Amino acid sequence: MTETAATTLDAAPTDLSGKTCLVTGACGGIGTATAAHFAALGARVLTTDVVAAAPAFDPADNIDPAAIEHRAFDLLDEKGLRDCTDWITETAPDVLFNNAAIFDMGSVLDADLAQFDRLFSLNVRAMYAVMRATATALVSAGRGGSIINMASQAGHRGEALVAHYCATKAAVISYTQSAALALAPRGVRVNAISPGVIDTPMWETVDALFAKFENKKLGQKKREVGEAVPLGYMGRPFEVARVAVFLASEQSRYITAQTLSVDGGSVLRF
Ligand SMILES: NC(=O)c1ccc[n+]([C@@H]2O[C@H](COP(=O)([O-])OP(=O)(O)OC[C@H]3O[C@@H](n4cnc5c(N)ncnc54)[C@H](O)[C@@H]3O)[C@@H](O)[C@H]2O)c1
Repeated sequence: MTETAATTLDAAPTDLSGKTCLVTGACGGIGTATAAHFAALGARVLTTDVVAAAPAFDPADNIDPAAIEHRAFDLLDEKGLRDCTDWITETAPDVLFNNAAIFDMGSVLDADLAQFDRLFSLNVRAMYAVMRATATALVSAGRGGSIINMASQAGHRGEALVAHYCATKAAVISYTQSAALALAPRGVRVNAISPGVIDTPMWETVDALFAKFENKKLGQKKREVGEAVPLGYMGRPFEVARVAVFLASEQSRYITAQTLSVDGGSVLRF
C-alpha cells in the first residue's frame, strides 16, 4: 500500500463504487445487512450462502437487484467449497466479508468430535479457504484489498458450555493476524470483527440450546444477554454492517491485523 500526501479532510471516502465485495453467509442477519450496506455505497456485491435464494433485503433499503449476484454454495461440502473458491478466483473481489458460520453448544463433557468436525469445517476450514482464495486472487491481480473475517466475543475467552464454537472463533482471530502480516507488503489488509450479542436468526438456535442446557424458558437467555450488555440492548445487524463498511473502505486504510469488538461494551481487553 502506498503512502499518500493527503492530510486533509477530503480523502476518507466510505464510497465503495468500483469495488467488488463478496459476502458469505449472506442470507443471515449480519450478512444481509452488510451486503445491503455495500450495495448502497455503490459496490457490486457477490453474495453466497447455502440458501439458494438471494438475500431478502428490506424493500425500504431500495437495493438495486442489478448490483447483486448470488450463488448458492454449501461450504461444508467439499465440492461446494471448491466451486466457491473457483468463483472467487474468477471474480477476484476487492473486499471479502467472510461471515458464514454455525453455532452449537456443549461443555468438554458433552461436545463430541462430530460437533468439533462440523464447527471447525465451516467456521475455520471454509473461512480459511475462502480467505486464501481471495488473498491469492488479489495478489496475482497485483492490487490491494480488504478481508474482514467474522470472529465473536466468544473468541476472546472460553465458556463452560460453548467449547468448540469459542475455539473456532479464537482460530479466526489468529488466522486474521497471520494473514494480515503476510499480506501487508502486498497491500491487502486483513481484520476481524468480534460481535457481542446481535439479534439475528442465529439467536433462535442459541436461545433454544441455552434453554436446554440451562433449563430456561424459550426467550429467557436472549432477554438476559441483552440486559447484561453495558449499552443495555442486543445489537442489531446494521450496527455490525457499519463497522464492516469502515473496514472495507479507505476510512480504515492504516488498520490491519486487528479485531474490532462491536458488542456494546461487553468484552474489555487491553
Ligand atoms: N448473532 C450473534 O450474536 C453473533 C455474535 C458473534 C458472532 N457472530 C458471527 O457473525 C456471523 C453471522 O452470524 P449471524 O448472527 O448473522 O448468523 P445467521 O445464522 O443469521 O447467518 C449465518 C448464515 O450462514 C449460512 N450458512 C450456514 N451454514 C452454511 C454452509 N454450510 N454453507 C454456507 N453458508 C452457510 C446460513 O444459511 C446463514 O445465512 C457468524 O460468523 C457468527 O458466528 C454472530
